Amino acid sequence: MTALLELQNVSRHFGGVAALNGVSLSIPAGAVVGLIGPNGSGKTTLMNVISGVDTPTTGAILLDGAAVQGKPANQLARLGVARTFQHIRLIPDLTALQNVVLALHVPTAGPLDILLRLPRLRRIEAECDARAIALLEQVGAGRHARTPAGDLSYGDRRRIEIARALALDPRLLLLDEPAAGMTRQERIALRDLIAVLPSQGVTVLLVEHDMDLVMGVCDEIHVLNLGRPIASGKPAAVRADPKVIEAYLGVDDA
Ligand SMILES: Nc1ncnc2c1ncn2[C@@H]1O[C@H](COP(=O)(O)OP(=O)(O)OP(=O)(O)O)[C@@H](O)[C@H]1O
Ligand SMILES: [Mg+2]
Repeated sequence: MTALLELQNVSRHFGGVAALNGVSLSIPAGAVVGLIGPNGSGKTTLMNVISGVDTPTTGAILLDGAAVQGKPANQLARLGVARTFQHIRLIPDLTALQNVVLALHVPTAGPLDILLRLPRLRRIEAECDARAIALLEQVGAGRHARTPAGDLSYGDRRRIEIARALALDPRLLLLDEPAAGMTRQERIALRDLIAVLPSQGVTVLLVEHDMDLVMGVCDEIHVLNLGRPIASGKPAAVRADPKVIEAYLGVDDA
């Protein structure tokens, strides 16, 4: 598989803290790749620099072979990189549907359309609603379309965040602890949802503390500790790696 994303020696320093310290890894197109590591090991920082929320101090990030490090998040979104956040960022007063519609690429209506309220405008609106409802159904939250996001359970809000990220029609989807706050059943549904994404052209980078989910859905896993990659490979090999057990799996911090 060709690399959709490649990190070359990426570091991010905050004052004296090296949140990332020489990270090199590649994410093949069509894969579900896991990123695990103890609290504070740099997982969210890595997602931030890949998605343009943050800029690496040094190193290169290549998307389809082109350097993208330092580009702002909106530009990376246009290039096909979408994400969810460890701390949910929906607009609580808007419905689930409205939150997703906001993220859609809306074909712009011309000034004449708006002036005359031509049927085209209503058609665009209906198309957006239909697309957003399809995305909400895909993540298992269709029945909550008309509910304000702030009234929904934590697990439902996480699913709507995924629908919102998918509305950007990404090639690479970064999920930062999507299973946090989910029930066991919701986690199983989430695993099934993630597993089909590659068949829809979406490559996934999954940060997650839920080892059943990570081991069950990922094609390969990278392990970070103190900002450095300490192991990479197939789930079974990573699970059995003594370095990983020592740094992470032996510590119950889920
Ligand atoms: N904006 C910032 N300013 C200063 N230090 C930061 C900043 N962001 C992260 N750090 C530090 O960088 C390190 C890595 O943090 P990061 O949030 O990436 O870890 P994480 O692996 O996502 O942890 P968790 O599993 O708890 O979410 C930590 O020591 C953290 O305190
Ligand atoms: Mg984090």
